[in-house]
Amino acid sequence: KTGRPIGEEPGRPEGHIGRRSFDHWFGEKDRNGFIHRSWMRAQGFSDEVFDGRPVIGICNTWSELTPCNAHLRRLAESVKRGVWQAGGFPLEFPVMSLGETMLRPTAMLFRNLLSMDVEESLRGNPIDGAILLTGCDKTTPGSIMGAASVDLPTLVVTGGPMLNGKFRGCDIGSGTAVWRFTQDVNAGRMTQEDYAAAESGMSRSNGHCMTMGTASTMACMAEALGLQLTGSAAIPAVDSRRYAIAQQAGQRIVQMVEEDLKPSDILTRDAFANAVRANAAIGGSTNAVIHLLAIAGRVGVDLTLDDMDEWARGVPWLVDLQPSGKYLMEDFYYAGGLPAVLHEILPLLKADAITVTGKTMGENVANTERTVDTDVIRAVGDPLGSGAGTAVLKGNLAPDGAVVKQSAASERLLQHRGKALVFSSIEEYDKAVDDMDLDVDADTVLVLQNAGPRGYPGMPEVGNMTIPRKLAEQGVEDMVRISDARMSGTAYGTVVLHVAPEAAVGGPLGLVRTGDWIELDVPARTLHLDVSEEELEKRRADWQPATAPTDRGWARLYVEHVTQANQGCDLDFLVGRTGSAVGRQSH
Ligand code: FES
Ligand code: MG
Repeated sequence: KTGRPIGEEPGRPEGHIGRRSFDHWFGEKDRNGFIHRSWMRAQGFSDEVFDGRPVIGICNTWSELTPCNAHLRRLAESVKRGVWQAGGFPLEFPVMSLGETMLRPTAMLFRNLLSMDVEESLRGNPIDGAILLTGCDKTTPGSIMGAASVDLPTLVVTGGPMLNGKFRGCDIGSGTAVWRFTQDVNAGRMTQEDYAAAESGMSRSNGHCMTMGTASTMACMAEALGLQLTGSAAIPAVDSRRYAIAQQAGQRIVQMVEEDLKPSDILTRDAFANAVRANAAIGGSTNAVIHLLAIAGRVGVDLTLDDMDEWARGVPWLVDLQPSGKYLMEDFYYAGGLPAVLHEILPLLKADAITVTGKTMGENVANTERTVDTDVIRAVGDPLGSGAGTAVLKGNLAPDGAVVKQSAASERLLQHRGKALVFSSIEEYDKAVDDMDLDVDADTVLVLQNAGPRGYPGMPEVGNMTIPRKLAEQGVEDMVRISDARMSGTAYGTVVLHVAPEAAVGGPLGLVRTGDWIELDVPARTLHLDVSEEELEKRRADWQPATAPTDRGWARLYVEHVTQANQGCDLDFLVGRTGSAVGRQSH
């Protein structure tokens, strides 16, 4: 299984070893083999790289425009060490990178494009196994989706969180502090000078957001799904142990190729149950819901919003991290990280689920560190809350579902009846937010339309609308907000998101008018628009879709094919997998 002896003439079928990189590229005797090897030799590789050893593609989302992933070239070097060490041949290549803070109109518009880049790069090249180097929010699910559709052995290495932010002697969290400080400035509680000073203290090392935002959540999801080595998710980006575990990942992926341990072996329904329960325990991002649905779609696992709601119920919320709680990722790592959490909730997990280690979830967790700081990671008997995960709501306002992150919401607003104040675009809301005459009070329900996957397009993170200045100055810190948008995993508040179907495809959200009564009942899982069916029918007859200008290019393809939030916002024709075979030659 270790490939051909060095010096022996490469050939097929005599030398056929059942390794795609060898049988279809480097082992070929003919003109094509010449072409495949000769140009690779230009990089100075010696003969033995073509001897049939596992070729490991290191799929890198590095980019200086994705600051959260800016250190991934260095991390790739550690992976390569491990691959060489285990007898593999590492080849690093770039794929599209999605930086949450830069990319307009929203990085989410391009998650599926990244997934296509990953999928085609892995399938079309002489690769036997893949390491996915990811970090910033969408880079993790986008890469996993693509790799899942190819189904070669795959191991995820996330880049790790930044060190804790610091400002005036206090820890401040990525994103979460931005939302809070912006509100403080609006309410006159913070000066512009302090606001500017906080900016440089917040992001002070390599790494992704160090709150339990979407990046940290998806790193934990990769680990809980069994796709990343045990204990990887929380190690800070600049901690030497991140580089050591990346080297181990390089070694392990070579073995995974030998074992033919593929995403389809790992990403079972049990793996998704583990991920959803872990997400409830860590107080993770609502975005995980959409990404897990999309990943499940690629591997053909039947997963619904109702499954997710059911699995998350009764899971104790254990991790006291911002935005729901107090601490940050550095604290989480030192307290034991995800393995400590998984160990706590092990009776709720599918312990037999197989993982990239070749062992089961239960075996992985049995051999790891336990919680060392029970303030950061609570014991099961002393949780921060119970069933506080992301709840799925249904009702005539969201026939196909909506979500709310209970741990980040205000207890008193979880059951609320209020009058709608409707905005048909986020720009319209932004114009109104500072208006001191805005007809709004603390019980008003802010409704935002046309910010869904098709409507925006790309479903941006605008669902956590800033509290109107008039109310912020009165000290109002939270209100019920409802939209077809997403919110940043670093955001908080009683924010109902992902309403499906979205307004732009004719969902009832688009029929809501200012003054309508809306009832939110999270414990009962309902979202009700108190308007008669006849009246809604009348409104439906007058309804016009607000169309975004998407006449060509990616945005057009996206708008024509994107599925709704309850289906994961994948493109309809990307659901499923094709495998790794490519029938035809390039020359
Ligand atoms: Fe990249 Fe938060 S902005 S992880
Ligand atoms: Mg984000």
